[in-house]
Amino acid sequence: MPAHTFIIQRFNPATDAAAHMHTMPLPDAEGDAPPPRTVLDALLTLRRRDATLTFRCSSRDGACGADAISINGHSALASQTLLRHLPAAVVLRPLPGLRVLRDLAVDLTPFFRRIAAVQPWLRPAAAPPVHARAQSQARRAALEPLLGCTLCACCAAECPSVLRNTGSFPGPAAALHALRFIADSRDAAATTRLNRLDAPQRLFLCRSAANCTAACPAGLNPARAIARLRQMLARRVL
Ligand code: SF4
Ligand code: SF4
Ligand code: FES
Repeated sequence: MPAHTFIIQRFNPATDAAAHMHTMPLPDAEGDAPPPRTVLDALLTLRRRDATLTFRCSSRDGACGADAISINGHSALASQTLLRHLPAAVVLRPLPGLRVLRDLAVDLTPFFRRIAAVQPWLRPAAAPPVHARAQSQARRAALEPLLGCTLCACCAAECPSVLRNTGSFPGPAAALHALRFIADSRDAAATTRLNRLDAPQRLFLCRSAANCTAACPAGLNPARAIARLRQMLARRVL
């Protein structure tokens, strides 16, 4: 009796008219290989049985964010989800709200487009110095809670405002990136950045339920970032 049975959404655009669910029992440990520990280990094991099973992973270590999928209805990294925390039946689907390319792989273009729209790069006032742009340790430390996003898209996949596809809403990850540069002492484009977010159909579409923060595998708090940005916008009109 396998400890886990995987029920995986499959879709091959070349042959399938619609997605279907495919049940795959996880085999017991193979030969001398250690038994699968994570959902990603399980997927790699299952792919040895069915080489067409498609999913993304790069680091296998929670570092790249590539292997975000829906695991029993929650968006999470397959490499960070331990099998021992899951029930016997594990339902895997692609991240919701994004076009499925094949099986568990989705088209992340809309997610990355939202990130790019907040211009997630330093826009300093002065030309580059001869050496690096220095920043005090205290100012660097203040940025720390805003750093470390792996662009996994779990937050956006759990966000009702993103899933309703309100095109103007930047979404949690993009808002986090916007604040990360607004708060950077070396950046000189805070006003422009806030102007770009200052419209009724943008940040104020966030319902503040913090699904995004609960889902973030990197321990970041996009909901708080949105709240801080809203405060900044509100102070401008007071
Ligand atoms: S707090 Fe806002 S950004 Fe986060 S999931 Fe809820 S609606 Fe989306
Ligand atoms: S904020 Fe967290 S959940 Fe959202 S993309 Fe970045 S790492 Fe992933
Ligand atoms: S495979 Fe890179 S984060 Fe999981």
